[in-house]
Order: sequence, then structure tokens, then C-alpha cells
Amino acid sequence: LNNELFILVNQNNKLEADYEPSTLVKADIPFEDYIECKKLDKRTNEAVMKMFDDALNQNINMIAVSGYRSYYVQENLYNSRIGLEKTRQYTAEPGASEHQTGLAIDIAETDYPYLDEGFENTDTFKWLVNNCYKYGFILRYQKGKENITGYNYEPWHFRYIGDIDIAKEIMERGICFEEYIQEVKSKIEKLKKSIN
Ligand code: DAL
Ligand code: ZN
Repeated sequence: LNNELFILVNQNNKLEADYEPSTLVKADIPFEDYIECKKLDKRTNEAVMKMFDDALNQNINMIAVSGYRSYYVQENLYNSRIGLEKTRQYTAEPGASEHQTGLAIDIAETDYPYLDEGFENTDTFKWLVNNCYKYGFILRYQKGKENITGYNYEPWHFRYIGDIDIAKEIMERGICFEEYIQEVKSKIEKLKKSIN
């Protein structure tokens, strides 16, 4: 849990406004033209580059929509959506978006460049769900876990955690990141008690 790639960001675990990762690089994958900031954490960038390449070799055409977003970009995004139905479940409040870590990426398909639930019917989504763990990614906001993650189902939002075995476990068991972290914390607590 001390691994910085395991950072948990959500509505209960917010980042400071001035938190900006020192590891940001310009991403080496295709982004939608309208996206101004095309940065990612450098380890995330390397992993996602490989994932895009391998997918393309299997005729899966992915396109990145959103990678790193600063606190202020998130603030503008959030403010622009206030008043819309369930704003808080779709767009994180500033500080509560893991896009601010550079470890999250929204991925669409070149033939279906929309971030909506219809994305789950695309070949790209199916490929991602089966393969993302091999590159250290997990699907972050699953269907049915809304009460735990605090966010709506987002079939396009992937999170880099680096560890392939743990990513595989999370994807195979269909648990969300919050549940995984909680399990590890409980195990640590038990161990501590058994030692005392
Ligand atoms: N849409 C996700 C929750 C975000 O704004 O980070
Ligand atoms: Zn996202």
C-alpha cells in the first residue's frame, strides 16, 4: 500500500489543489484532437503505449480521450456540469479525480469516440476488459459498485496500478479498487493483532 502507484483517490480521499505528479510526460498515444492536455505519468504512458500497440495488432483501434487533468482543469469541468443530473457521480469534484494523478486514462474506440455506456458494446471495451490487466490496468468504476466508488459506471475509465498479478486478481474477481485496498488493510490489521 506504500507503493505510490496504489494511491487511492475518491470523494473521501482528495488530493490537494497543488498536487501535481513529478512524473508527467507527454503521452505517446493518439488522443482526440480537442483534448488540450495530453500528459500521463511516465510509467502509465509506457504501459498504455504497449497496450495500444498490441490492441492495434489485433485490429482494435483505441483512442485516448482524457489522461492527466490538473486540479484547476477538473474544477472547470466540474463547474461546467453543475446542475446537470447527478453531476457529482459523473464528474469528480476538484481533488477527487484520479485523473489528477496521471495514472488514469479514458479510452474510446476510433469508430465509437463517445464516453457513454454504449461503449461497453464495442470490441474495444471487450478487448480492454480481457487484456488491460496484462499491462497493469484495471477498470476503475464497475457496474454495481457505484455505492463504493462513489461514481457512476464508466466502461471507458482505466487506472494504472502497475502490478500485473494484482490487476489480474481485481479484474477476475470483479472487485473495485476500494474493496481491494480495504481487504489489504484488514489483513494487515489481523496480522498486527496476531503479533501483539
Ligand atoms: N469521471 C471521473 C469520475 C472523474 O471525473 O475523475
Ligand atoms: Zn476518467
